[in-house]
Amino acid sequence: MTGSQAGPPHDPAGSARAKLRPEHYDYFAGGAGEETALRENEDAFGRLALLPRVLRGGGDRDTRVSVLGRDWPAPLFVSPTAFHRLAHSDGEPATARAAAAAGVPLVTGMAATTAVADVVAAAREADPGAVVWFQLYLQPEPEVTAELVLRAERAGCSALVVTVDSPVFGRRTRDLRNGFHDLPPGLAAENMRDLPGVPPGTTRDIAMWPAGWDDLARLRELTGLPLVLKGVLHPEDARVAVDRGVDALVVSNHGGRQLDAAPASVEALPAVAEAVAGRVPVLLDGGVRRGTDIALALALGATAVGVGRPVLWALATGGEDGVREALTALREDFEQVLALCGGTRPQDLTADQVVARGLPYPPYGPTAGQGVPRGLAYRPRRGERPW
Ligand SMILES: Cc1cc2nc3c(=O)[nH]c(=O)nc-3n(C[C@H](O)[C@H](O)[C@H](O)COP(=O)(O)O)c2cc1C
Repeated sequence: MTGSQAGPPHDPAGSARAKLRPEHYDYFAGGAGEETALRENEDAFGRLALLPRVLRGGGDRDTRVSVLGRDWPAPLFVSPTAFHRLAHSDGEPATARAAAAAGVPLVTGMAATTAVADVVAAAREADPGAVVWFQLYLQPEPEVTAELVLRAERAGCSALVVTVDSPVFGRRTRDLRNGFHDLPPGLAAENMRDLPGVPPGTTRDIAMWPAGWDDLARLRELTGLPLVLKGVLHPEDARVAVDRGVDALVVSNHGGRQLDAAPASVEALPAVAEAVAGRVPVLLDGGVRRGTDIALALALGATAVGVGRPVLWALATGGEDGVREALTALREDFEQVLALCGGTRPQDLTADQVVARGLPYPPYGPTAGQGVPRGLAYRPRRGERPW
């Protein structure tokens, strides 16, 4: 096929850039510092290859995974991202309807430009059984956190995702350069409206502060909802979190927006999965763009993966339809990769199928036994995961 027949490469970020004000595009696209962690999230997937298995037979493919007592149609969810109305005037309700229609659970953010009750209602319009979780930053005033939790419970969210990688706000280089600090007039973080301590009708700022394990314990007492800790990269934190009763983890470097020296999410995953040892689901986000990325993360111990920016780009360019199509395409891509890897179920993907590019892989090459990706240490057995 010649270049002219091949057509332009698929570039969702580039298409979105053409639709958005430059400072809004930069807000969505950018990361902290020199954007090393941001780049690495995608590049790290590119450094890994998948070893397909052959002649495994098997029946119909089934991409379902079980997470916190619910069957998800695919090992895919929408990660929480702020300010969807900056991407498209239809905002979070459009994302929610699209995700529900595509069979993809949604984590709606505390920094959404639509209140959580309206986001859940939109998702349930498309699918009455839609899974919606609420992402929360613990706030210094316990009564503020308590009110946010109550709103998420009343709205019908089935888990709380507590983001723990933000004791301070990351230094987002592009936002500093552009002078982008706040939403334009007419838009607000609607979950922060009418909370304790502010005059009726007004919103509070979201506080970034160094919460501790005791604050998490207080949250545990406050709600019966499952708690999902987002932003865990150190295996010891993962171990402590599980010991303290956390119900799931998200391995994440916040899309490269917090600590710029943090490793790529997929590189942190194997050690966390090993520490957790199947006791709770391990989720991952950061740099997931295609079916092979999903398969790599699953093979290295993730139960499901989240996407952040791909949803924002699809929303900016195509609104609700765009998000539904992007998520559906990602699901289909994963299903095909699963088949090509010789699997019929997500659990069929195992760590021995992941090798580093650029080297003959062990145990067959001259470097046998050296440079073994940490992931190879974690070998989930079929049926090992109890959730
Ligand atoms: C514009 C933007 C806003 C975000 N806002 C939040 C947020 O409010 N809370 C949170 O926990 N994570 C937030 N994240 C991080 C995402 O949940 C997720 O970790 C990240 O986007 C995954 O990487 P990806 O964009 O490469 O898929 C945000 C990410 C972006 C790009």
